[in-house]
Amino acid sequence: MVEAMDTIGAEIMARADALGACSEDGPGVTRRFATPEHRAAMDLILDWMRDAGMEAWTDASGNAVGRYEGTTPGLPALIMGSHQDTVRHGGRYDGMLGIITPIACVKALHRAGERLSFAIEIVAFGDEEGLRFQTSLLGSKAVAGTFDFTDLDCVDEDGVTLADAMRRFDLEPGEISGIARQPSDVLAFVEIHIEQGPVLEARDLPVGVVTSIAGSSRRSVSITGTAGHAGTVPMDQRHDALCAAAECILAVERHCAATPDIVGTVGVTEVDPGAINVIPGGVRFTADLRAPDNETRVALVEHMTAQFEDICARRGLQVDIQTIQDSAACRCAGWLMDQLEAAVVGEGIAPYRLMSGAGHDAMALADLTDVGMLFVRCTDGISHNPAEAITEQDAGTGARVLLRFIRDFSPTGPVS
Ligand code: HGY
Ligand code: MN
Ligand code: MN
Repeated sequence: MVEAMDTIGAEIMARADALGACSEDGPGVTRRFATPEHRAAMDLILDWMRDAGMEAWTDASGNAVGRYEGTTPGLPALIMGSHQDTVRHGGRYDGMLGIITPIACVKALHRAGERLSFAIEIVAFGDEEGLRFQTSLLGSKAVAGTFDFTDLDCVDEDGVTLADAMRRFDLEPGEISGIARQPSDVLAFVEIHIEQGPVLEARDLPVGVVTSIAGSSRRSVSITGTAGHAGTVPMDQRHDALCAAAECILAVERHCAATPDIVGTVGVTEVDPGAINVIPGGVRFTADLRAPDNETRVALVEHMTAQFEDICARRGLQVDIQTIQDSAACRCAGWLMDQLEAAVVGEGIAPYRLMSGAGHDAMALADLTDVGMLFVRCTDGISHNPAEAITEQDAGTGARVLLRFIRDFSPTGPVS
């Protein structure tokens, strides 16, 4: 057992590499929901769950689920997990660490013949990033019982609906409501994740306990101007949609940079018709706006909406703003923060609490149960980038903290 925990960091790194190989071509890792790459990753995860002594299966929403019974079968469960999917050209640890690490912990319990006074479930959520269908947290919402069935009509870039993609992946969308958990069957949800920012590294700490997760609002903004000849239309008579979009994008940057705690990103732009000698007639861009509390996020969305409308009106252009998704900010439960912190201290590490600017599956699970999160330091704070990295030593430390937390876990929180 002791030997197993000594090599746990190396095993986590090797498994992250194995999952990272389940990728579309291109830099880093690209793994979209319900694709052959998703299938390959899920097969590995299910094998590892079984090797750790768990019963394992694929649920109706494309999650891989493993269950390790407690001292008697059917006890309420501590659920842990994170996501299997990635952003385009992402890294090997975002999401994956939160799947591999709890599997390693359960394997250690299994090898030692330990059963606890509660069951453990690990869920490897099929979609959190929303890369393929632009709507995120599909797997965790299904488990939490908040899956939005209108999302089944969302289409990917090839025009395939989510419903069709699921059927082609041998999933039956009509059965999703059946996987929603009852609060009385769940004790808590705990997610271990790379920090994706520079705070722990700056403090020379391998892990930290998360206090809350910022909320986000995502919008699709379409600007309609007038396409025209790049050589003939005088500059003062143009209705250039791309120039208006550029002004909108800079307005996001300026406002968010000038206001504490909020962030805004334009990550996608599409120009119509997109030709070197044609004045752009149409532009669509996305805006991802985040704030630590819901009031601030709503004010941010209202401010940017007004700015986009003013900029386009001044330029004589039409603007249409559609909601892609709104995710509420989420607080981690105090009793879980305390127990995670006790495990951090128990491993001889100084306790530290920090908030998350990134979104996580825990946000969706918070509608079902109390949630807690443990962050692991990542190199240079880089994430959503092929260069995303953690050290083997920190992977091992994260696993030891999580195993100590699991062994000492006491469901003192509200159980309905
Ligand atoms: O976008 C996010 O915050 C997360 O990485 N899905
Ligand atoms: Mn991510
Ligand atoms: Mn993630």
